[in-house]
Amino acid sequence: MDYKKICHSVCDVAREAGVFIRQYAGTIEADVVDKKAQHDLVTFVDKGSEKLIVDRLRELLPESGFIAEEGTDTTRGEVYNWIIDPLDGTTNFIHGLAPFSVSIALQEGDKTVVGVVFEVSHSECFSAYEGDCARLNGAKIETTSTDNFNDSLVATGFPFRDYSKLDDYLKVLTFFIENTRGVRRMGSAATDLVYLAAGRFDAFFEYALKPWDVAAGAYIVQRAGGVVSDFNGENDYIFGEQIIATNAYLYNETLEQTARLK
Ligand code: IPD
Ligand code: CA
Ligand code: CA
Repeated sequence: MDYKKICHSVCDVAREAGVFIRQYAGTIEADVVDKKAQHDLVTFVDKGSEKLIVDRLRELLPESGFIAEEGTDTTRGEVYNWIIDPLDGTTNFIHGLAPFSVSIALQEGDKTVVGVVFEVSHSECFSAYEGDCARLNGAKIETTSTDNFNDSLVATGFPFRDYSKLDDYLKVLTFFIENTRGVRRMGSAATDLVYLAAGRFDAFFEYALKPWDVAAGAYIVQRAGGVVSDFNGENDYIFGEQIIATNAYLYNETLEQTARLK
């Protein structure tokens, strides 16, 4: 497979979905917001973006299957599967805030081989494919070389649906508030990950995330020189609903701090 060609086509698809999403930014009224759960929101924009993406990717790779948040297509491919979040940061989008992104990963077997995260409000396309470095709008990006928490900026997502680990989460958060330059909650996990890949953050952790939130972003972090794992230090971060991602220097200490969330 020509991963480079596929990656360029996926960037075009993500940009096209971005154009679709952007036309509705700042226009979302309460009557078009549906609730998947009490605080878990979805709109026709999420669904329309996913339909556009699935249609394009099916043309691009007819034998591929889909793991897509809104369930547009649930066919699984024997070798190739796309993992898609058609709009990551829906709550931001509804409230007129940035960032919000389109996230698309391609898996070959259980290995990610292409990742694209397009942050719509700033038109930033983060991408990577097997054999190449991570890129932002075509230019190489790398994770930072910050080697101590006191000089670091950390990203996380606050639990909003699964509060089972909230007490422990708040203890971990307290550590990072007291020992880093600050903690940011951007509201889009895919964006958190690619901002880490681009050197804007030094570490990221969150629990209760889904495969479509993390698959593309985590891959881009790795291609940018960063480290990704679950809270056990293992590789179950796409389907395991727990993730830490860091630059090459802060991994062990971050894993130590998030251990109580296992
Ligand atoms: C959400 C965002 C958010 C994270 C949530 C996700 P959505 O995705 O990534 O940052 O904290 O857990 O569900 O619902 O906007 O696609
Ligand atoms: Ca998401
Ligand atoms: Ca989404």
